[in-house]
Amino acid sequence: MAADSNVRVSLIGLGRAGGFHLASIRALPGVSLGHVFDVDRARAEAVVAEHGGRIAEDMKQATASADVDAVVVATPTQTHYEYASAALDAGKPVLCEKPLGTDVGQIDHCFARARERGLPLLVAFQRRFDPSFAEVAAAAHAGRVGALQFIRSVSRDNPVPSIDYLRTSRGIFHDCVVHDLDLVCHVAGEVPEQVFAFGSNFVPAIREIDDLDNVVIALRFPSGLLASIDVSRQGTHGYDQRLEVLGTEGMVQAENRPRTTAVLSSREGATHAPIDHSFPTRYFEAYRAEFACFLDCVRGAREVPVTHADVRQNHRLADAAERSAREGRPVRLAEVDPG
Ligand SMILES: NC(=O)c1ccc[n+]([C@@H]2O[C@H](COP(=O)([O-])OP(=O)(O)OC[C@H]3O[C@@H](n4cnc5c(N)ncnc54)[C@H](O)[C@@H]3O)[C@@H](O)[C@H]2O)c1
Repeated sequence: MAADSNVRVSLIGLGRAGGFHLASIRALPGVSLGHVFDVDRARAEAVVAEHGGRIAEDMKQATASADVDAVVVATPTQTHYEYASAALDAGKPVLCEKPLGTDVGQIDHCFARARERGLPLLVAFQRRFDPSFAEVAAAAHAGRVGALQFIRSVSRDNPVPSIDYLRTSRGIFHDCVVHDLDLVCHVAGEVPEQVFAFGSNFVPAIREIDDLDNVVIALRFPSGLLASIDVSRQGTHGYDQRLEVLGTEGMVQAENRPRTTAVLSSREGATHAPIDHSFPTRYFEAYRAEFACFLDCVRGAREVPVTHADVRQNHRLADAAERSAREGRPVRLAEVDPG
């Protein structure tokens, strides 16, 4: 495909994630909405009425239509593999929400198919594209803080997702922690050998579905580098996302950002505006940059930055953390099924 070609996209799944991908399709140059597909037809009709495109009648049309150049999968987690593999089989580049598959075999199958056909397959670990986190990673990679000793990632979701969403989310480790694992390993530039996790469930509805809502994970890397990840489903103060890297020559951090920089000071102290409410605003720039990267990959102008090795490693680490929390012991990555 030529560098300046328009890319016609089929967007599958029109919920929260579909919403931010749709915003990117509408905002970026050189891309247009081809087909949309959602099991909730009223949603598809509303999107087409407002943004154009055509409703695909079934999965085959959504993934294989001759008049689309690329497919975006933003459906519930357990359906990703089916849609992504169908699109790749039909010769379409794919941007797929995480997780790509429910096991390593599904991940390997999709990447093998993408490789055989020379198709870009980008799994949506958007935090790498966030300007603040990218700056932290670049500083760490350039040696600006010396030899790395400790990485800390803090993620608190807000609001608590609906119970319907949580039921199909594949649990906190594969739904949330996997983003932190991707970012921490990307910054570290190495793969942890050991994982130790604890979890609690304070939210009754989450306890009822046997999931966790607060988890803490310790990671040990071969170089001796350590990392901690703490994740909560319940950041009532806002969508709290922070990253810190400590090295022998200093520290680099990315903090939360209040919506404005105004600070009100009084006898009681100082207040500023709340931090971002949730992911659509916090990761606005990241979603846009991720989509622009996908378009570059489709046009052959760039290699996919999140590799097969990254995606399978993130999956195995999430499995290891889940097993560690369940069994109450440290788990070596080597213990987890390599697929
Ligand atoms: N990267 C991120 O920051 C981020 C943020 C939110 C969600 N996600 C991921 O996006 C995916 C979707 O999450 P969401 O929050 O948008 O969920 P959602 O429930 O808001 O939306 C899902 C949509 O898919 C539709 N749908 C359900 N089953 C379908 C099927 N079989 N075929 C076609 N359409 C179907 C639903 O009708 C709904 O419109 C999840 O896998 C989640 O992990 C990623």
